[in-house]
Amino acid sequence: MNSFEFYAPTKVIFGKGVEENVGKEIKAWGGTKALLHYGGKSARESGLLGRIEQSLAAAGVGYVALGGVVPNPRLSLVREGIELCRRENVDFILAVGGGSVIDSGKAIAMGLANPGTDIWDIYDGKCLPAACLSIGAVVTIAAAGSETSMSSVITNEDGWLKRAFNNDITRPKFACMNPELTYTLPPYQTASGVVDIMMHTLERYFGANKGNEMTDRIAEQVLRNTIRYGRVCLQDPANYKARSEIMWAGSLSHNALTGLGGKSDFASHQIEHELGGMFDVAHGAGLAAVWCWWARYVVREDVNRFVQYAINVWDCVLDPIDPLATAMEGIDKTEEYFVALGMPVNLAQLGVGQLAEAQIDELAVKCTFFGRRTIGAFKSLGAEDIKAILRLATPDASDWR
Ligand code: NZQ
Ligand code: ZN
Repeated sequence: MNSFEFYAPTKVIFGKGVEENVGKEIKAWGGTKALLHYGGKSARESGLLGRIEQSLAAAGVGYVALGGVVPNPRLSLVREGIELCRRENVDFILAVGGGSVIDSGKAIAMGLANPGTDIWDIYDGKCLPAACLSIGAVVTIAAAGSETSMSSVITNEDGWLKRAFNNDITRPKFACMNPELTYTLPPYQTASGVVDIMMHTLERYFGANKGNEMTDRIAEQVLRNTIRYGRVCLQDPANYKARSEIMWAGSLSHNALTGLGGKSDFASHQIEHELGGMFDVAHGAGLAAVWCWWARYVVREDVNRFVQYAINVWDCVLDPIDPLATAMEGIDKTEEYFVALGMPVNLAQLGVGQLAEAQIDELAVKCTFFGRRTIGAFKSLGAEDIKAILRLATPDASDWR
């Protein structure tokens, strides 16, 4: 194993009914008045919000509610949340939902704790926050892993820039994770979540990553389990065993465990974030449309790494004369799995149409922060590489191998 630091401080409270104790939990962390932050309709319709309101009342924790978080959460609602929480003297953020709600909550929490700072400057890389208000999460979709991650991703409607901010201060204090809460997910969201979970491990597995055997074996098993139980969740949405395996995989995939000792890649994520900003697509679906094309573009950088993936995750058999064929088989199996989940595997299937060259240029320029950065660690990618991958991901090029 190479040197690493591992910091995963979030208290995970996992199992049936755990959301009922959320009030007591906030109180234990010193919260007296919470922002009850949520998304569209699902949490209200399922009765979850009502149960949480009861739990807060029973524990004597006051609250003010702010719903309306949309997938690819918007900066404008973050600003509204910061203002509301200031007026209402909120001292704890409770996010009830998926990655979008938790990320919006993280942004509000940073805005509140850094009064002299414009919140977008933090996401735009212009300054670092000194502090973050305490956050708790009740997770309703297994996907982004924001409940234990150091990340949050916000979309600025002014220019449709989707930007991530990564810092340990945003890790939630606790996460209530009841797999039953995910039974109501539409199949597309379940599948999108499964892809995102796989991707959080794949982005680490295919990084600059040599000699971390324990990390590799953990990553491969997380992938195998996610592949296996992802299928079951789609066939049998109320299967507790499958939902619980997937929910825990979601946290483990993105709390850093599956990449310890290596340098993560995250190029596919960074490309997807631009697609999400420009076309408002579901995050996991966008990743499914991009990853296999990224993989085919970079595979020759380290064929053996892809061979290891093909054998250990997909049970492929090594072709000793042509290892590249085995490597490609692993990529193809991943693509077939995404198709089986009902996910798009190119940009047309994602629903963004046939990208014009001007759009490809714009996506690539934004992705390199207007020429200020390259992306990726497995292979460093500049604007021309990003454009090439986007072109490969168009249907006309999909017969390229
Ligand atoms: O708004 P409601 O009505 O709740 O509907 C949501 C939403 O439409 C629905 N949903 C959630 N739980 C449900 C449910 N519907 C029925 N039953 C339930 N139990 O699902 C839809 C998607 O929700 P969202 O929160 O957007 O999903 P996800 O967790 O995939 O989050 C995606 C966001 O997280 C970011 C993505 O970029 C995207 O903006 N990410 C955050 C990361 C992080 N903070 O660490 C890492 C990821 O790589 C990712 O970038
Ligand atoms: Zn992701």
